[in-house]
Amino acid sequence: MALTVATTSERHAAGGAIEVIPTGRALGAEVRGVDLKDLDAAAFARLMQAWHRHSVVLIRDQTLNDQELIAFSRRLGDLDWAPIQETGRRFVEGLPEIYIVSNVKVNGEPIGSLGDGEAVWHTDMSYLDVPPKASLLYALEVPPSGGNTAFCTMYGIYEALPQMLKDRVAGLNIKHDGTYNSGGYVRQGVTPTDDPVTSPGALHPLVCTHPDTGRRMLYLGRRRNAYLLGLKLAESEALLDELWSFVDRPEFAWEHVWRVGDLVLWDNRCTMHRRDAFDPSSRRIMHRTQVKGEQRPPDPRTPLQLERHPDDGRIMRRRNLLALGVAPRCRRGR
Ligand code: OGA
Ligand code: MN
Repeated sequence: MALTVATTSERHAAGGAIEVIPTGRALGAEVRGVDLKDLDAAAFARLMQAWHRHSVVLIRDQTLNDQELIAFSRRLGDLDWAPIQETGRRFVEGLPEIYIVSNVKVNGEPIGSLGDGEAVWHTDMSYLDVPPKASLLYALEVPPSGGNTAFCTMYGIYEALPQMLKDRVAGLNIKHDGTYNSGGYVRQGVTPTDDPVTSPGALHPLVCTHPDTGRRMLYLGRRRNAYLLGLKLAESEALLDELWSFVDRPEFAWEHVWRVGDLVLWDNRCTMHRRDAFDPSSRRIMHRTQVKGEQRPPDPRTPLQLERHPDDGRIMRRRNLLALGVAPRCRRGR
């Protein structure tokens, strides 16, 4: 396999050089030469371009407090409030946007979610009708080993499917289960169930089009309690198992080994992620923000989505604009 390839570098207003260094894997790039506390518009645009191209970007050696993490995250869009943690606590006092992922306990109570076990492959909160478009995870404390996070490309996985499978998945909808989180914990307020047919969750097309890049991807969400609508349960399970066998192939993934000060921004629409277990006696503290999605995962079977412009009510086309290389038609002055 080819090692790290292109390095692009450009000057920006602050005088430093921004470098985008692809991981050499199916997705992911490190962006160097940026301080997320102080990023001008040109540098931010460059970062967004790298993010669209590589789906996951790593920015190392950052020194962000929670307010600064929130301020940077807001540049991508409105933020969600953090989901309720397994402990039933909702969020950090005064900072509802911050979600803590940690195994650390204070007075016997976990300060965050997901503990020290494995977190299985998933997309964040795809059980919502409009799932978040991005997540930003920032490392405050990391164990000496373990606790790595891997990402996989749902574009690459879709593209690798044999044509027969592509045809089979083309017309299907999938239910994304809302019962369990990726650590296997039951979500707050949900009655546990292991019946994929009746478990609560959102329906999405199994093949979606990315709203910004226009690329097609497989949209799996997570394995547990997933269900392909209209199929007998056994058929749904068999087809899902077949599709998931591609997810475990290393050629679609990139694994990140964390250092304190790393920020990883992933496109939650076209990737999944998982985390390794780590030694329970070591500490891991990550703070996460989540950027709201702007629409339901687009269905390639409905090629044009017409929406009213929020300002003047005119009808506009909503999809594939970046992919086509044209500016949105009805947006002026942006
Ligand atoms: C998350 C998540 C994994 C990790 O924050 O959504 O899945 O590596 N985290 O902490
Ligand atoms: Mn996650």
